[in-house]
Amino acid sequence: MIAIRVLRFGALALVVFVAVAQAFRIDKTNPPVTADLDAPAPVKEVMTRACYGCHSNETVWPWYSNVAPASWMVAYDVRQGRAELNFSQWGAYTQTQRLKKLREIRDEVAAGEMPPWYYVHPMHPEARLSAESIATIEGWIESESAALKQGR
Ligand code: HEC
Repeated sequence: MIAIRVLRFGALALVVFVAVAQAFRIDKTNPPVTADLDAPAPVKEVMTRACYGCHSNETVWPWYSNVAPASWMVAYDVRQGRAELNFSQWGAYTQTQRLKKLREIRDEVAAGEMPPWYYVHPMHPEARLSAESIATIEGWIESESAALKQGR
């Protein structure tokens, strides 16, 4: 009967953990949008749909961001995502920074690393990039990089 006691204790501990975890709320602030990405409408549409959840100050906080421990993972993604690339500050990046970020975006998208699978598959099917969306991003990166290199 030891096994049953252990199981019961484990279940109780889990319930207590989840209950107590709810007290640790995450910061769901969306800072002001100061220098939003200025790109052709189709590019903007893809980025908004697939990237802005983590890479902008316009995060639409999903329902599970109210439920610990999932909320902690969302908070982590948004914090890291904004730190790496924030489309709400795109206009404030220097030319060199933009060129570097464009290269990184191209690489991440080509490798299928962004948007992350765990974001797309269960919760955000709309963020999945079709071949057409990828082509839109690649075309933009090419023309935008060329323009930046000419010091526009
Ligand atoms: C679920 C949140 C989430 C979404 C949606 C998302 N990203 Fe990210 N992204 C992150 C996180 C977290 C990091 C930082 C950690 C890492 O590199 O994995 C990151 C890092 C990056 C980086 C920097 C990688 C490097 O070289 O260091 C780029 C570029 C990027 N993302 C592009 C995109 C693009 C483009 C999209 C949309 C097509 C997108 N991301 C969608 C969470 C996200």
